[in-house]
Amino acid sequence: MSSKILIIGACGQIGTELTTKLRELHGVDNVIASDINTRKLELVNAGPFVILDAKNFNAIKDCCINHKVDTIYLMAALLSATGEKYPMEAWDLNMNSLFHVLNLAKSGQIKKVFWPSSIAVFGPTTPTKNTPQHTICEPTTVYGITKQVGERWCEYYHDKYGVDVRSIRYPGIISHKAMPGGGTTDYAVEIYHEAIKEGKYESFLSEDTNLPMMFMDDAIKATTQIMAAPAEDITIRSSYNLSAISFTPKEIAESIKAEMPDFKMTYKPDFRQAIADSWPSSIDDSVARKDWNWSHDFDLEKMTSEMLTQLKKKYQS
Ligand code: SER
Repeated sequence: MSSKILIIGACGQIGTELTTKLRELHGVDNVIASDINTRKLELVNAGPFVILDAKNFNAIKDCCINHKVDTIYLMAALLSATGEKYPMEAWDLNMNSLFHVLNLAKSGQIKKVFWPSSIAVFGPTTPTKNTPQHTICEPTTVYGITKQVGERWCEYYHDKYGVDVRSIRYPGIISHKAMPGGGTTDYAVEIYHEAIKEGKYESFLSEDTNLPMMFMDDAIKATTQIMAAPAEDITIRSSYNLSAISFTPKEIAESIKAEMPDFKMTYKPDFRQAIADSWPSSIDDSVARKDWNWSHDFDLEKMTSEMLTQLKKKYQS
């Protein structure tokens, strides 16, 4: 019998592309997309869709029973920049949704859980270069605190209750299908849209802010790989470091200029600069590479070429 999957937060930046990929892999009818509203009509019409509030335990439970769901991908969250504006809302959504899903798994209703963590678990006291898997985590953002605490709970539910929960610490994710919402790394998506639409971009991070990043195809690949791995290969039950590329705003601008010589970049750092400054510049993900054969495909040049090609089609059609 096929596994039935529920994606919570399916209309978000990662959820949108994850839904498509999981439907390719498992069949459209075996993947239930859900979100708090129907803002993405394309996704709503592409297969089973349920309106679901990630903070409502009974709604998630009923959905799992009705659709015989045994696997959940919990993608709903308030990200770093939004979390600083609405701290209690970020805590409420990010923590309660996780507890709801972990408790459903503890009760046996759900067999497998994917929950994303983030480079935001790190803080100013973390080693900034090649940040190890096991290191100091003293996050200074509400988002980072929720992810760090969430990691501890994931490991606890695995160790104490045998819950099969798997997680990766996503870096900034760059994609062209759905916009990110409220993150510190969002500049690296906005820049491509503005390059095509306006030929210029004003970065809210300073030119030398080096952050770990990844193209969406790699992020989806990592997510499906870790979920397909045999349980005994998953040696980290908090969250895996995951890495592909690191670059600064200046370097991404240079990569765009290589294809669009007239592109202009200016810099006006705002409150997100302090968040970025508290995060590492590069990540050591050797444990993920060893445990479940993770490897990335996209470097900065290849990603820029793909982003510009796809966005030209989008805006110029
Ligand atoms: N992209 C996220 C953010 O900037 C990091 O996980 O908040």
